[in-house]
This record gives sequence, structure tokens and C-alpha cells, in this order.
Amino acid sequence: MLRVVVLVSGGGTNLQAIIDGVKKKTITNVELVGVLSNNKTVKSLERAQNAGIPAVSVSPKDFEDRAAFQKAFLEKVDEFSPDLIVLAGFLVSVPQDMVHKYSNRIINIHPSLIPSFCGVGYYGLKVHERVLERGVKVTGATVHFVTEGMDEGPIIAQKPVAVEEGDTPEVLQRRVMEQAEWIILPQAIDDFANGRLAVTGNTVRHIKVTD
Ligand code: GAR
Repeated sequence: MLRVVVLVSGGGTNLQAIIDGVKKKTITNVELVGVLSNNKTVKSLERAQNAGIPAVSVSPKDFEDRAAFQKAFLEKVDEFSPDLIVLAGFLVSVPQDMVHKYSNRIINIHPSLIPSFCGVGYYGLKVHERVLERGVKVTGATVHFVTEGMDEGPIIAQKPVAVEEGDTPEVLQRRVMEQAEWIILPQAIDDFANGRLAVTGNTVRHIKVTD
């Protein structure tokens, strides 16, 4: 069983999709060993507790600087001894020490079709605001491995979603979650946990595993 830690910052609907996937066995070979938030009072922690998963927060507000926070955060992650770290709506930058230590073992869900609408400043609702401002007709979501550059790691899965006339950022965000994020993130975790992902350079191949 793969030990999986989920990092969150807010509502936790992607976390819920993962919890449900493990329960329904659409995600197999996974044990959710912990949920860690950078935010003390978020719905995500409640979702984790309801599912019986240890949930903790390490907030930057409790540290004198960013470096001290990132060190404490990484120590907390290490305590769970994860095989895979999933960023499910984790809206602060990942400590570089963590990226190096868990190379090819951190995946992130981003609410656009990378390389569009990603990088510094593109997170959460802001992504959908920019999508509507630009007037694109198709957006979507991407699951990728986390590397040093923000949203630059090898892409595991993408799914397009139509932008519709009259969309508000909130309406579009919900459609992208329903039609893309809650599908491709659990699927990517299942693929990783069952040895179906092979990374070469910036390319991820999905391999067929016969047992
Ligand atoms: C999701 O849309 C996720 O893709 C996005 O934040 C939202 C969190 O929602 N992540 C990013 O923007 C990362 N750059 P949730 O807490 O309900 O899963």
C-alpha cells in the first residue's frame, strides 16, 4: 500500500474526491496517511477528520519567517513517511527542499490546461478570472509532477472543459472541478499507485500493467 499525504489550503473538494475514490476503490493500493494544511481553519481538515484521516495544520502565521515555516512544514510531511504527496488545492509555494527530497513523488492539480493560465499568481479562482478576461473558449485542468519551476513539471493528465456564455469565475470553477479535476486527480493517483506512470525527462508515459 502506498502511503499518501494530501496537502490542502481551502475547501478540499479535491481531497473529498480522493477520499471517495479510496472508499469506492476507484483508487487502489493507497492508504491516506495524513492531510496537512497551511491554514488552521479550513473545511479540508474537517473532511479529513470525518474520514478518520489524521489532519494537521502548520501555519506561516506561527513562524517568524518563510524559511522557518517551510522547515516546519517539511518536518511535518516527513513524519508521515509518504510515498506520494498530492497537492489538492495547496495554494502556497512548495518548499524547494521538499521538491528535491520527494522528486517525482509530488503531484499537483491545476485548474487550467497548462501551459496556459499557470505559474506565479495563477491559483484558485484567479485562474478562472483570467480565463474569462482573455475570452478563451476552452479551459480545463492538468495533473502534473511538481518540479522546481511553478507548474512546469511533467504532465500526467489533462482534460478540457468548455467555457460558456455568461460564465462567472465561480460557475466556471465549479464546472472545471466537476468535469475535470475530480476525475483526473483520483485517476492519476490510482495510476501512480499501481505503477502505470513512467517519467522520462519532461514526458510521462502511461504504461499498461498486466498482472
Ligand atoms: C482547485 O480548483 C485546484 O485546482 C486549485 O485550487 C482549487 C482548490 O479547491 N489549485 C490551484 O490553483 C493550484 N495552483 P479545493 O480546495 O476545493 O480542492
